[in-house]
Amino acid sequence: MHKSLDQALSYSNRWLDLIKNPVVNEEQGKQIIEESTSNFAEHFNRGWLDYRKSVTEAGDWAATEWTGAGAVFRDVLGREYIDCLGGYGMMDLGWGHPDVIAAVKAQLGRTPMPSQELIDPLRGVLARLMAEITPGDIKYSFFCASGTEAIEGALKLAKMYTRRSGFIVAVKAFHGKTMGSLSMIGKADFRQPAGLLYGGPVYHVPYGDAGAVEKQLDICQKVGVDIAAVLMEPIQGEAGAIVPPDDFWPRLREVTRAYGVLLIADEVQTGLGRTGKLWAVDHWNVAPDILTVAKSLGGGVMPVGAFCSTEEIWQVMMYPNPFIHTSTTGGGGLACSAAIAAINVTLRDRLWEVAAAKGAYLIPKLNALAAQYPQIYHGVTGKGLLIGQHFNDAKIGYKVAAGLFKRGVLVAGTLTSAHTIRIEPPLVITYEQIDAVLDRLADTLAEIKRGM
Ligand SMILES: Cc1ncc(COP(=O)(O)O)c(C=O)c1O
Repeated sequence: MHKSLDQALSYSNRWLDLIKNPVVNEEQGKQIIEESTSNFAEHFNRGWLDYRKSVTEAGDWAATEWTGAGAVFRDVLGREYIDCLGGYGMMDLGWGHPDVIAAVKAQLGRTPMPSQELIDPLRGVLARLMAEITPGDIKYSFFCASGTEAIEGALKLAKMYTRRSGFIVAVKAFHGKTMGSLSMIGKADFRQPAGLLYGGPVYHVPYGDAGAVEKQLDICQKVGVDIAAVLMEPIQGEAGAIVPPDDFWPRLREVTRAYGVLLIADEVQTGLGRTGKLWAVDHWNVAPDILTVAKSLGGGVMPVGAFCSTEEIWQVMMYPNPFIHTSTTGGGGLACSAAIAAINVTLRDRLWEVAAAKGAYLIPKLNALAAQYPQIYHGVTGKGLLIGQHFNDAKIGYKVAAGLFKRGVLVAGTLTSAHTIRIEPPLVITYEQIDAVLDRLADTLAEIKRGM
């Protein structure tokens, strides 16, 4: 039985009017906040709301985001925030980049989605662009809508190509929350509640320790466990911007070759410039066998993900069954036009160099604050604009996030704890905005110290 079709129709009508005419006064703004809060609590996820509220509540009214441009967004009451969360790496180009919006709008007017049966040009254009900008011999791509789907595809490809089923992954890794990706992540808090996951062997080894990977490969070989691939983030994102030692990726490449297993680089968060190189593996001149990307590939406008590999490995995607891996909605016209524009802007504005320069400006200043407040900070890590501030405990981290939010700066937490807080702004953040963040952080830290 349907509950209330008439009500659903009139409610959606009211909101379609608001979507089309988004100008609201203060009274309406407050009503939208109340309504959105209640909708989240009653129909989306009350726990999520409770968790967020303690950091984001400002004054009497919780913040409900409404518009944004560049590295700044406004809530429905018009209050302004500098975005240092950047959609967890999805907003490299900032909020609603005009060039991406223009491409998507134009494509929207022509055809938003392909027939599925014929050849649609944009999917091919995007695949060719990916072949041109990815490292090594990577030549083929498959498009989906999220990072976790990209990982699922990469795992399946590695299994199909090698005809093996084991994976070696890292402690504290994050690769997504669907069954395959979930099996690979390094946080039991997320894996265990779902019970039995991927059926094949998965080994978690310490991140940044190529010797541990080699040892695991050796053990597996000796006991006859077949490993398909080693899957790692080039720089761990959700774990808190953890940069591995410089020899880690070159050695991973060597040992995976030596043992005949594939190397998968998960560039979902690091890809397209965030860490100061176009791909984070470029820091060490390593070409993986399979690369995954998502988040900023859609330019912060459309959901787009991809897994990409070499012609040799891609054979199993093409023959004998070219439909072995498909997605009805993945790689549609809107997604591809957004990704083509995102790649264009990234290359035109050389955004990886922008990220490197801004990181080189910001990180030493954060280090100076960390040195000034040893009772608060454990340290600062990161590369480019993927930066982790590590605090002495999670309570302090929480206070820093709340203090910053009160001052109009949104920062990114990590997997489950405020022990580490990421600064991951759009790469288009201005130096003026970076200075404002630093000033507000200095104020917040002084306030926390006074209260200690
Ligand atoms: C490295 C990495 N891989 C995969 C994912 C999953 O991406 P998505 O949230 O789009 O499924 C994430 C998300 O944070 C990520 O950081």
